[in-house]
Amino acid sequence: MFSEAQFNLFILTWVALAIVVFVILMFINAPYGRHLRDGWGINIPARLGWIAMESPTIIVMTLYVYYYYFVLGRSELVGALFYLIWITHYFHRTFVWPFRAQISKKVMPISIALFAFFFNTINTSINAESIFKVHAPYPAHWITSPQFICGAFLFIVGMYINISSDNILIKMRKQSPDDYVIPKSGLYSWVSSPNYLGEILEWIGWAIATWSLAGFSFAFWVIANLVPRARSNHHWYLEKFEEYPKNRKKLIPGVW
Ligand SMILES: NC(=O)c1ccc[n+]([C@@H]2O[C@H](COP(=O)([O-])OP(=O)(O)OC[C@H]3O[C@@H](n4cnc5c(N)ncnc54)[C@H](OP(=O)(O)O)[C@@H]3O)[C@@H](O)[C@H]2O)c1
Repeated sequence: MFSEAQFNLFILTWVALAIVVFVILMFINAPYGRHLRDGWGINIPARLGWIAMESPTIIVMTLYVYYYYFVLGRSELVGALFYLIWITHYFHRTFVWPFRAQISKKVMPISIALFAFFFNTINTSINAESIFKVHAPYPAHWITSPQFICGAFLFIVGMYINISSDNILIKMRKQSPDDYVIPKSGLYSWVSSPNYLGEILEWIGWAIATWSLAGFSFAFWVIANLVPRARSNHHWYLEKFEEYPKNRKKLIPGVW
């Protein structure tokens, strides 16, 4: 197999790819949702796309847990806690959000689903490898470390912001199935994409709690993906709605 140095080099290469993707996304919006357009391959039902592209996050992580806990007979608590944190987010993203969001009549290009499937497979493998092999066993007292406590807290706060902001959009879509409207409640009164803000905080929390190169690489990828999209969403709102609040920021309340 590979050494820890080789693994770290692979992650750094992966981070370099995130920088390239960030630069591309500053010029080209990923073509799904409000930015959907032709020319990106055949379209598939959006709900199917979301479930398929997010499923490696559950399958790959669970295979690692099965191998390390049930085949190799390991029993450490901290790895199991990280699994719980990961699965809580991804069970919701893969099997709950796609059924709650009003996307049954929506489509997405297969190229987006394939790219996300590839990203999720690599990213989950890196994080699982890191938790269960490179950094394992995390000692039991890791759960009282400042990193774990601060990271887990940030993850929970981020998840709350992400889900509660998505809930506002879900409610708006129910009331206005065919049109976009200006969101006004919750953190939307401060920024255009608080759901992305929550998602970014979650994975920064994960990076801190795991205190691993793999965790930080994931947070970096989420930022590389969602910062350009938050910028595009904000410009889209300003173009679409003349009355869009001019003091509303893109992603970070009061700052940007
Ligand atoms: N980890 C990552 O890198 C990553 C990447 C992408 C997404 N995500 C997460 O996945 C979730 C969905 O992401 P997304 O990019 O699809 O979010 P989004 O653009 O905010 O859209 C979410 C849902 O709300 C609807 N919606 C958005 N704005 C609306 C408005 N003004 N009026 C009425 N309906 C509106 C959308 O409808 P339409 O489909 O018609 O636009 C869609 O069904 C978020 O929680 C996000 O954080 C994570």
